[in-house]
Amino acid sequence: MPVYMDHAATTALSDRALEAMLPYFREEFGNPSAIYSLGQTSKNVLEKCRARMAACLGALPTEIFFTSGGTESDNWILRGACSARRQRGRHVITTAFEHNAVLRTLEQMEKDGAEVTRLEPDRKGRITPQQLEEAIRPDTVLVSVMLANNVVGTVLDIPALAKTARVHRVPFHTDAVQAVGHISVDVRKLGVDFLSLSAHKFNGPRGVGAVYCRLPNRLTPLLTGGGQEKELRSGTENVPGIVGMTTALEESLEALDERTARLRGLQERIISGVLEIPGIHLTGDPENRLPGFCSFIVEGIFHSVYLVNEMNERGFCISSGSACSAASRESSHVLMALGYDKALAGAGLRITLGAENTEKDVDLALAALRESVEKVRREKPPGASLL
Ligand SMILES: Cc1ncc(COP(=O)(O)O)c(C=O)c1O
Repeated sequence: MPVYMDHAATTALSDRALEAMLPYFREEFGNPSAIYSLGQTSKNVLEKCRARMAACLGALPTEIFFTSGGTESDNWILRGACSARRQRGRHVITTAFEHNAVLRTLEQMEKDGAEVTRLEPDRKGRITPQQLEEAIRPDTVLVSVMLANNVVGTVLDIPALAKTARVHRVPFHTDAVQAVGHISVDVRKLGVDFLSLSAHKFNGPRGVGAVYCRLPNRLTPLLTGGGQEKELRSGTENVPGIVGMTTALEESLEALDERTARLRGLQERIISGVLEIPGIHLTGDPENRLPGFCSFIVEGIFHSVYLVNEMNERGFCISSGSACSAASRESSHVLMALGYDKALAGAGLRITLGAENTEKDVDLALAALRESVEKVRREKPPGASLL
């Protein structure tokens, strides 16, 4: 088995989540919309999960809606919140370094007449309330700023940004896909109106997520059909997935402090070890970053895909920055938004640790990285041929 150090891409399902899910695939397979007992058992568990998810996020059960994951949650909130306020205007504010689930959705919406302002983060990945304040217009219908960035791990000051939006009575969405399960997330403390999350980032199953929505009447549906989720998100509910997600979130929050302390220790060990290699720089905010999240730029290489491949040969799963650009040799839009030039933005490296990683894993990864960097610098220097 390789040593897995790419937990920001996805995580393995926890044993507890798997155990909790199993009965709902076979014995308790009823459709929650059916009125006989088998269906009502599913309906009951669904509503219990809604209440448990709400408790994990400081929300009310009526504010939680189940979806197929982070991408759907982002799409739904962006399209649904803007469509609900169409009479007021079509201006949306976001940042230039969101996940593509937000950026590409907004590009699509621009083709249909939306106007989008993309705030530029500073080198560490921070956005200030003043930047937001200056961008808000009378026709602004939504602000969407991520809670934690998926390439550099910076945790943004959402309470301050959401407060600014609230003063202007503009609804605020945060994509919290990378944050939920890894730092404490309380929707009231954040002060947001909408939040997206995804189960597979915190040891839950793939293809299931949720939306927090403070004002459900401010959101039009993305998926119409059988009228599930109070007519707001149609489609037969993924009961096993929802049970797995709920169990995994509770499990990660129960052990949060202890895991955070351990991951912070391993994170420091990785960061200090990697920075001993000449020509490697830490990206993102050295202080406000997700636990276990280590991100760098490696000078003197053509593209970090080669480094990821070398590490793979040596038995380590790490990433060049984000899953979407892993197979292509593009530069990361996130690193470019942070002000790195195109060449350096193609040389990002992301090591994201999880609960099962040990000090020994870290030391072995550091040794493998030293060898890999040396080899890639020798064989694939900047400007090398693609062949
Ligand atoms: C910040 C962020 N938003 C959205 C997504 C998409 O989530 P999902 O994979 O559940 O569709 C991801 C996944 O990488 C992410 O990191």
